[in-house]
Amino acid sequence: MAEDRQPTRYTRVRDVRVPTFLYGTAWKEDETARLVRMALAAGFRAIDTANQRRHYNEAAVGEALTDALASGHLHREDVFLQTKFTYVDGQDHRLPYDPRAPLAAQVEQSCASSLQHLSVGCQQLDPRLVTA
Ligand SMILES: NC(=O)c1ccc[n+]([C@@H]2O[C@H](COP(=O)([O-])OP(=O)(O)OC[C@H]3O[C@@H](n4cnc5c(N)ncnc54)[C@H](OP(=O)(O)O)[C@@H]3O)[C@@H](O)[C@H]2O)c1
Repeated sequence: MAEDRQPTRYTRVRDVRVPTFLYGTAWKEDETARLVRMALAAGFRAIDTANQRRHYNEAAVGEALTDALASGHLHREDVFLQTKFTYVDGQDHRLPYDPRAPLAAQVEQSCASSLQHLSVGCQQLDPRLVTA
């Protein structure tokens, strides 16, 4: 399908092809997986989440994505998947890293946990953002 006929439009940030419209998953809690499934079925091809349980249910995003990929109608490369590292003051007690570790180790642990939640291979996260 020609790019201008696709429901998702793209821009370029440096060399990265970035969609201009993402489905946001904050505050969806127990509805996260159902709503992400609906978003993908409706044509969204970009999902924003974070490894910050206080505001996001990243594992539920992974569950929905896994289901959508298993259906065979969607390929991983069709979906732009964005997650974030959030430093300790932005988290609640459900931390995805050891807060006593050095910051670089916290980022690594958070990314490893995101890859597990999202059930994608390590080359398969698009941006990983650091939020303050
Ligand atoms: N705001 C921030 O600080 C922030 C920071 C970083 C990233 N983001 C990203 O940006 C996205 C959008 O942020 P926002 O501030 O615009 O969020 P928002 O004010 O919560 O709006 C999100 C939309 O989701 C809908 N929604 C929430 N729960 C729903 C549910 N259970 N079923 C159906 N619809 C539901 C809301 O509908 P109703 O209005 O009808 O409730 C609203 O239209 C976030 O999800 C997140 O991915 C936001």
